[in-house]
Amino acid sequence: MTLEGVPGEGDRSRRPSRNADLHSPLRYPGGKRQLVPFFVDLLKLNGQSPLPVFVEPFAGGAAVSLHLLAAGLVDSVVLADLDPLVYAFWHQACFHTEQLVQDIAAANVTLDEWHRLRANPGRTLREKAYACLFLNRTSYSGILQGRAGPIGGQKQQSAYKIDCRFYKDEIIHRLRQIGHLAADGRVAAVRPTSVEVTVEWVESKFANSERLYYFDPPFWEKGERLYRKAFGRTQHESLAALLTAMDAPWVLSYDHHEEIVELYRASVQDGSQGTSDSAGGPRLHKTDLIYCNRHKGRGATELIITNLAQLPSEHVSTA
Ligand SMILES: C[S@@+](CC[C@H](N)C(=O)[O-])C[C@H]1O[C@@H](n2cnc3c(N)ncnc32)[C@H](O)[C@@H]1O
Repeated sequence: MTLEGVPGEGDRSRRPSRNADLHSPLRYPGGKRQLVPFFVDLLKLNGQSPLPVFVEPFAGGAAVSLHLLAAGLVDSVVLADLDPLVYAFWHQACFHTEQLVQDIAAANVTLDEWHRLRANPGRTLREKAYACLFLNRTSYSGILQGRAGPIGGQKQQSAYKIDCRFYKDEIIHRLRQIGHLAADGRVAAVRPTSVEVTVEWVESKFANSERLYYFDPPFWEKGERLYRKAFGRTQHESLAALLTAMDAPWVLSYDHHEEIVELYRASVQDGSQGTSDSAGGPRLHKTDLIYCNRHKGRGATELIITNLAQLPSEHVSTA
């Protein structure tokens, strides 16, 4: 079906060319689009462009994966997220794009629809994918977690109403870009699994030299207020244990907290880091991100931890 005013699937002029850009359809809290220049230079520096497989086990809005994929800097991506709504969204966006396009085109962007979906996001992947995208684009700061209210408030008295971020044409354009990439075989897998299960699966499928993991876990601070899947101190510690024992190349980003630096330093001192030639023990770095909102630019320091030997020095300093 071709929707009125929206180019159909057969319209090749909208197919993303290599070097094209691709923004996530999700407005994701903690989205890492600001790290794209860092990853572009990182891949070039490590002689890994195009890289066969880029793996995001905490996919969220998958901002980095989408850019690298559309720009041709990686051949394929694996996206995984433990949140069933986020998983359903990526599954439908990649493999049943036109169903999701139809649902978005037909969406009634009202407070009633927001309440209906918040109370019951549905049972099928199609229903959940639609609920994920709808609630993400109509809830405050894109937050799917239960406490976030609708944009414009329950009384819709703000100048910004519930539909002010629901640009149907643009969302549909981005969905179709994703669908085209997936149809070209560039999305190796979308998985509904925890980080540990994703890593186990990827390890069984791809060789060390073929892949780079990018881990972007929930924030150390406030993570539980932003995401529907809890990730407390125990999970942060388990992640540190998983990563510091890992041979395959990986990059981890975090909000900057001394406890995280200490956690990874302690693992290095324990001698539990990986042993391969291509990737050694964790190295700690930091980089500055600028988050922008309607009122002002807000600086934040991002912690980058990696077992890669070389990092683009213009983007980072040692933590
Ligand atoms: C910081 S966000 C990722 C943001 C993403 N990098 C982006 O650019 O939009 C973290 C994500 O991890 C997911 N998550 C939480 N616990 C998880 C777990 N144990 N395994 C996999 N994903 C998890 C959350 O649902 C959330 O989508």
